[in-house]
Amino acid sequence: MTSRPWLAAWQDALYGADGFYRSNAAAEHFRTSVHAGPLLAAALAQLAASCDLRRVVDVGSGRGELLIALADADPRLSLLGVDVVARPPGLPSSVDWLVAPGGADLPADLDARDALVVAHEWLDDVPCPVLAVGDDGALRVVEVDDDGFEHVGGDASRDELAWAARWWPTTRPGDRVEVGLPRERAWADLLARADGSVLLAVDYSHDRLSRPSAGTLVGYRDGRAVPPVADGSCDITAHVALDALAGAGVRTSQRRALQALGVDAARPAPALATTDPMGYL
Ligand SMILES: C[S@@+](CC[C@H](N)C(=O)[O-])C[C@H]1O[C@@H](n2cnc3c(N)ncnc32)[C@H](O)[C@@H]1O
Repeated sequence: MTSRPWLAAWQDALYGADGFYRSNAAAEHFRTSVHAGPLLAAALAQLAASCDLRRVVDVGSGRGELLIALADADPRLSLLGVDVVARPPGLPSSVDWLVAPGGADLPADLDARDALVVAHEWLDDVPCPVLAVGDDGALRVVEVDDDGFEHVGGDASRDELAWAARWWPTTRPGDRVEVGLPRERAWADLLARADGSVLLAVDYSHDRLSRPSAGTLVGYRDGRAVPPVADGSCDITAHVALDALAGAGVRTSQRRALQALGVDAARPAPALATTDPMGYL
């Protein structure tokens, strides 16, 4: 069986003609804060208002779940969803929609100016090269076949090595490095289209002090973590080196950011779990 570098296999598995996200919605397989209730949308509507912005662009908008909640939270907002599928049926009329190629590539006609631009768990789904340290301490490209078996391939490129030296330095045999370059290119592309905007990336992340030596590549299907097999049968994701994003301003935890926007983090009364389990969750 032939193997390919993770970057190509991952891109194909999620965004190729039969890719996972061509026919699967994130919400069918896992829950994010977007699906957990109206609190995130209310906080984002408040953030937009406090920045005097009347427009929200949601990159990686799934089936428009956050946009629907935003239209509820503030019907005056003009909303734009961007994802790899056609405009989902049933969206409010205030929601416009653009189809993206997927991964690091954004639609050519995406105009993200003068908006609150939200990328909620987009970047972790932007495929990136995976490298592994060999016994000689050198970084090589990890390849994978369609059954998920990995092989160590050729030398890493000069750009990949330079990125690893700066952001994820390691020479310990067996360590892995998930090279953030495609995420940074994607983010820089978004930033370049977003004059007068506030950009918000929400994602699983690590920084130079907390890089996981075994990497974070994993699959998700039907609500469970599964081995990352690049055959289109599961989501494939890896945490984001958020500190390496160009122009990344303030980095904070979602908890602190939401608390600053007035979302109460206190647990509901335990009795609610028996009378209204979903409300409690
Ligand atoms: C993990 S899901 C997150 C969905 C939603 N934002 C949420 O938090 O529930 C990632 C989404 O990003 C989308 N995506 C991937 N590459 C994209 C791109 N270049 N432009 C727009 N959406 C993209 C995927 O199709 C998928 O719907």
